[in-house]
Amino acid sequence: MNAVTARTPTVTSRLPQVGTTIFTVMSALATQHGAVNLGQGFPDFDCDPKLLDAVNQAMRSGLNQYPPMAGVPVLREAIARKIERLYGRTYDAGDEITITAGATQAILTAILALVHPGDEVIVLEPCYDSYVPNIELAGGRVVRVALTAGTLRPDFEAIAAALTPRTRAIVVNTPHNPSATIWRRDDLDRLAQLLRPTDVLLIADEVYEHMVYDGEPHASVSRHPVLAERAFVVSSFGKTYHVTGWKVGYVAAPAPLMAEFRKVHQYNVFSVNTPMQAGLADFMRDPAPWRDLPAFYQRKRDLFREGLAKTRFSLLPADGTYFQCVRYDGISDLSESAFAQWLTREVKVAAIPVSAFYSRPTESGIVRFCFAKKDETLAEALDRLAKV
Ligand SMILES: Cc1ncc(COP(=O)(O)O)c(C=O)c1O
Repeated sequence: MNAVTARTPTVTSRLPQVGTTIFTVMSALATQHGAVNLGQGFPDFDCDPKLLDAVNQAMRSGLNQYPPMAGVPVLREAIARKIERLYGRTYDAGDEITITAGATQAILTAILALVHPGDEVIVLEPCYDSYVPNIELAGGRVVRVALTAGTLRPDFEAIAAALTPRTRAIVVNTPHNPSATIWRRDDLDRLAQLLRPTDVLLIADEVYEHMVYDGEPHASVSRHPVLAERAFVVSSFGKTYHVTGWKVGYVAAPAPLMAEFRKVHQYNVFSVNTPMQAGLADFMRDPAPWRDLPAFYQRKRDLFREGLAKTRFSLLPADGTYFQCVRYDGISDLSESAFAQWLTREVKVAAIPVSAFYSRPTESGIVRFCFAKKDETLAEALDRLAKV
């Protein structure tokens, strides 16, 4: 009898360019070298115990089975009320808000729902690392528009030049990861001017909506009547309530767009876990946690910036998010990735090279630190960075 040989067939990769992300690499290196991890963007402090109690209560009261596909109704209603209060637009909780497994799934699902093979989608680089592979998975063509060198602000002339009859969508992120810049009302107006004569849709990644500093308002796309009519506006409870590991987010969009989104959502995750949603809805009755968030993080930003000002790094502005970018040209001429690895190994502080946010090799001599950390963690990191 012939021996049957077992063989795993080879797969032609849908994403041949994708390897292990730099976030995983840097976090592993940080652990290996006992470095203070200011790399990956997550808090090293816990969430409000009231939120844990609310989720616990939901589980114990039997809310453990599938919720409706679009999300637990009380949570969608709480989100609709919050958006109306903050940004003045009324989304229908029934047809225009969907709860997702984090902002990451919201963005992928929106792209899969909109983009047909060959459609062009504009991203403004540097950008969050999931956008480009998401567009590629949908069979779309990625059109990269660089943010203005130096300031990392949007370049509207370059965006205008990138628009073609094949453009299906543009992805915009404010407050912006990694640059910590924010869009203002004028920026939204300029984008609206460009998009108004077209059918181009907008995906607005606003996961850091409550991390805008120095008294500035968050310029939400949902506040902008022209843009909101064509936009998926995405946010994340992970960022707002210090629970990145829960992976619960949401998307708001006009009903016809949301109907297409839900067709993909229902065969993608179908629904997101029930007790987290019920607990979040209960916790959202108190506006204080998100209302106080800008002050909470601004204090950390200021503490971190004051410390960094005494080092050899040069600070870039940090108007939003919980990230601080620095130039290191006074210290080293290594590439960003090599410098971040050296800093982790030798100085024992992990950072992320900004080159990780470009899909093609791009060097600007900038690394990104995350300051969503306990004061003592930041103090320890600053002590070490002062010795560089
Ligand atoms: C700009 C941006 N968008 C989306 C996400 C993902 O959010 P979530 O954890 O809710 O999937 C992140 C997380 O770091 C982010 O920085």
